[in-house]
Amino acid sequence: MALLDVLFCCLLAVWHCQPGLGLPLAPAGGQSPAPAVGQFWHVTDLHLDPTYHITDDHTKVCASSKGTNASNPGPFGDVMCDSPYYLILSAFDFIKNSGQEASFMIWTGDSPPHVPVHELSTDIVINVIANMTTTIRSLFPNLQVFPALGNHDYWPQDQLPTVTSKVYNAVANLWKPWLDEEAIHTLRKGGFYTQKVSTNLNLRIISLNTNLYYGPDVVTLNKTDPANQFEWLENTLNISQQNKEKVYIIAHIPMGYLPYSMSTTALREYYNERLVDIFRKYSTVIAGQFYGHTHRDSIMVLSDKTGSPINSLFVAPAVTPVKNALQKQTNNPGIRLFQYDPHDYKLLDMLQYYLNLTDANLKGESNWKLEYILTQTYNIEDLQPKSLYGLAKQFAILDSKKFIKYYNYFFVSYDNSVICNEKCKVFQICAITSLDHNSYVDCLKQYYMKHHL
Ligand SMILES: *[C@@H]1O[C@H](CO)[C@@H](O)[C@H](O)[C@H]1NC(C)=O
Ligand SMILES: *[C@@H]1O[C@H](CO)[C@@H](O)[C@H](O)[C@H]1NC(C)=O
Ligand SMILES: *[C@@H]1O[C@H](CO)[C@@H](O)[C@H](O)[C@H]1NC(C)=O
Ligand SMILES: *[C@@H]1O[C@H](CO)[C@@H](O)[C@H](O)[C@H]1NC(C)=O
Ligand SMILES: *[C@@H]1O[C@H](CO)[C@@H](O)[C@H](O)[C@H]1NC(C)=O
Ligand SMILES: [Zn+2]
Ligand SMILES: [Zn+2]
Repeated sequence: MALLDVLFCCLLAVWHCQPGLGLPLAPAGGQSPAPAVGQFWHVTDLHLDPTYHITDDHTKVCASSKGTNASNPGPFGDVMCDSPYYLILSAFDFIKNSGQEASFMIWTGDSPPHVPVHELSTDIVINVIANMTTTIRSLFPNLQVFPALGNHDYWPQDQLPTVTSKVYNAVANLWKPWLDEEAIHTLRKGGFYTQKVSTNLNLRIISLNTNLYYGPDVVTLNKTDPANQFEWLENTLNISQQNKEKVYIIAHIPMGYLPYSMSTTALREYYNERLVDIFRKYSTVIAGQFYGHTHRDSIMVLSDKTGSPINSLFVAPAVTPVKNALQKQTNNPGIRLFQYDPHDYKLLDMLQYYLNLTDANLKGESNWKLEYILTQTYNIEDLQPKSLYGLAKQFAILDSKKFIKYYNYFFVSYDNSVICNEKCKVFQICAITSLDHNSYVDCLKQYYMKHHL
């Protein structure tokens, strides 16, 4: 097929323009010129369901289907279920055998399954996170991994505390091979940390515990600065600015508005505004922001108060394909690779990979493949805020082909026949361009009211 040919050529082109990619974990000497492009992987929302097994009674395939029938269970999973271990292994095997050199990986949380609270416990949650950590460590013994905690990485789910806890302690111990002493210290205290990617790179990761800002977390109700994370974040960014570093923000729950509903922030609105203020103030330090949690593939652009785009944000789709009985759509399993300029850490491109779950189960083989390359599929220059903002403006055009693509990729090519009507499209576009309350209201006025929807 023509489309496949194009994708294949793109892949070749990518390989060609960046021989010997990636930066070694512990570079020797520093004589050799820096590679043209640096790369890192982003995986998120693995949601392992250890109970998954094929059986004739489809209500018994997985605990995560909560008593409803699995729809078409196979070795790689089912849309009514969280990930079988085999699906997660296939994703990491693909990464390992992809031929892509990456200097690090970010892993933005949510390892346990979606099951009723009483079916889990603190020990089970810790065991699942330990299992995922061990799995990654054994497949990638030399890869630097930067994790972030998700709202499911706690028991009871969503109730992440503002002080140390059994889970924070456990992950601090589990992630010691990847993190330095200072990072382990704040992780143990509040579930967040910062660390330079390596001593001779001027790139810093800030891993936020945005679960503290999540609506269902009763522990943080009415608190102005849970775990003093805002204060710590401002300080960390301020020092980074003084040291002329660049920062990648990673976290589980994204800031901004949910793209599939009207006027709903992913975090409590007050906390969202705080984050917008902080990220605006330090936008020149922040070279990218990376999130998970929604299980969908979306982009966002933070603008300053005058409306100029200043930051690019990326929400990665989940590895788990799970949906509930009421949902028509879900996502195919996805993982992604980012490319950045190793001189200033500017984001250049993103390669989204996916598993066609139906096809994998049908053939009994794990055929992970490239879904799209961001700059090529949308014909944009790079992943800079101005480029993405311009793309969002193109999406707004009536019957925009690019938007139809975007909406198909939103569900990781799960069902390309699904249509986003005008109202649906306005929510998607305003979620991309408007991250704070005022600009979101303006965006709705501009598109929603104008079209008398
Ligand atoms: C599951 O499927 C079986 C066989 O089709 C059916 O008899 C049963 O009622 C279904 N159970 C639920 C909970 O939907
Ligand atoms: C992780 O869990 C899976 C499924 O329960 C199991 O098969 C596997 O052996 C476990 N791996 C580790 C490293 O604990
Ligand atoms: C939070 O603040 C609201 C409004 O001031 C108040 O009604 C509520 O009781 C407070 N909740 C807690 C847990 O302090
Ligand atoms: C960073 O901190 C210094 C010292 O506290 C302060 O003077 C400066 O204004 C801060 N920078 C920003 C951008 O707020
Ligand atoms: C996924 O696989 C199924 C079964 O082979 C096929 O019908 C469908 O078109 C595939 N989807 C995509 C996006 O390739
Ligand atoms: Zn999740
Ligand atoms: Zn989540």
